[in-house]
Amino acid sequence: MSDITIDGETVAATAGDNLGALLHRLGDARLRATLSGAPRGLFCGMGTCFDCVVLVDGKPARACLTAIRPGMVVERQGGQP
Ligand code: FES
Repeated sequence: MSDITIDGETVAATAGDNLGALLHRLGDARLRATLSGAPRGLFCGMGTCFDCVVLVDGKPARACLTAIRPGMVVERQGGQP
């Protein structure tokens, strides 16, 4: 297991696993919000829609195409519940 940080909380994860799948498994599907505030999350699961963009170590990345690395810092921009 490898610890990563998601929205400031330490989460146990497995290096090499898919970040989008981990975020989905954690339950809160809101990964980002549109300019109007509409929530977006995993949709296509193959890198086409960009609805799963999160910040990984401060840079935008599609969660569905990102492999988990030990120590990575993930920030969701999901807007208000
Ligand atoms: S879910 Fe569509 S790009 Fe990731």
